[in-house]
Amino acid sequence: EILTTITVIPGDGIGPEVTDQALRTLDALDLGLDIDMLDHVNAGTYLETGEALTDADFERVRTSDSTLLGAVGDPRVAGTDYARDVLLRLRFDLDLYVNYRPAKLFHDRLSPLRDETRRAVDCVIVRENTEGLYAGMGGVLRKQTPFEMTMDAEINTHHGVSRIVDFAFSIARRSVCMVDKSNAVKFGGQLWQRYWREAAGRHPRLETSHLYVDAAVMKLVEDPTRFDVIVANNSYGDILSDLMAELAGGLGTATSANINGDTGFGLFEPVHGTAPDIAGKGIANPIGAILSAALLIERLGHTAAAAAVRESVNSAIAQRRVTPDLGGELGTVDAGEAIRAGLR
Ligand code: NAD
Ligand code: IPM
Ligand code: MN
Repeated sequence: EILTTITVIPGDGIGPEVTDQALRTLDALDLGLDIDMLDHVNAGTYLETGEALTDADFERVRTSDSTLLGAVGDPRVAGTDYARDVLLRLRFDLDLYVNYRPAKLFHDRLSPLRDETRRAVDCVIVRENTEGLYAGMGGVLRKQTPFEMTMDAEINTHHGVSRIVDFAFSIARRSVCMVDKSNAVKFGGQLWQRYWREAAGRHPRLETSHLYVDAAVMKLVEDPTRFDVIVANNSYGDILSDLMAELAGGLGTATSANINGDTGFGLFEPVHGTAPDIAGKGIANPIGAILSAALLIERLGHTAAAAAVRESVNSAIAQRRVTPDLGGELGTVDAGEAIRAGLR
């Protein structure tokens, strides 16, 4: 029998707390997965050794079938290369060029919008995940003097832009909206605009629209139900996905898949970070991590098991058997247990 190996990087802060709930959920499904834990990949290791993710760790991830990550980062490593060396290295060096971030309202009660006719969010943010402002190109002059000057270049390649726009069209049900800032950011803006129009021309049956990012955030809050797929560069996709997550019921519930659209290899993680403000208190919402694990098993072919997890999450939310951020009174472990109880 060939085992399916899942590498797991719990990370920092609430990362290990929520990842533990996701792993217990996978365990309850009895799918015969082989879990390879990389719990030494964390900020403590980085501070001690200067290297959080070694080449050997990278190889373990690369040769596994899929990866589940909690969240990385903490105040002690703010402004260092830590997140770049772990999360961005995995995204870039494994060429996980799609950051697929779905958002669908779980329960009317969770929407922050006053107008109830505009709450039914069901949308996917398709975020370019390998270039843009995250490319790490640039430099610094006269460092640590009052004359310090820094530059971070925004990289846009035809290869990168075309494959992410094509992916967005490939998953659209009704419409695709492209978000950029091409009225101000010149050269990259022209590339996105040009490819966007070509691709739209090839998909006459889908509705297409374009918004500048400032207007896009306004339109999203005004009526998020108008959107199906939104495609954006790395930075705007990052920002839009936290907004969509909150509109769909809360950042603690949102999932993401970092995937290579060609090979299908994926690294799955909640959209949220390590939440230092609540870390260690046992109240972090495990739903984002649990549903990210559901996305992972779905991509490996366990469709029924993934659907069962989603259904169980929905009923836990409907019964308010959830953490305080969703208006419940349960801790992380009990909230995870409520979801697993629904599976039995
Ligand atoms: P964050 O997402 O960690 O927290 C934002 C807010 O949402 C906080 O008030 C937090 O308490 C709340 N929150 C987040 N997840 C929650 C959950 N599961 N349950 C309940 N509440 C939750 O964002 P931040 O504060 O900007 O970042 C903290 C650290 O996390 C930073 O080091 C940042 O770089 C890192 N980060 C990592 C990832 C990742 O690994 N994918 C993503 C985002 C941020
Ligand atoms: C995310 C996070 C990361 C990002 C950080 C930790 C570098 O915010 O996954 O959304 O900006 O991509
Ligand atoms: Mn983010």
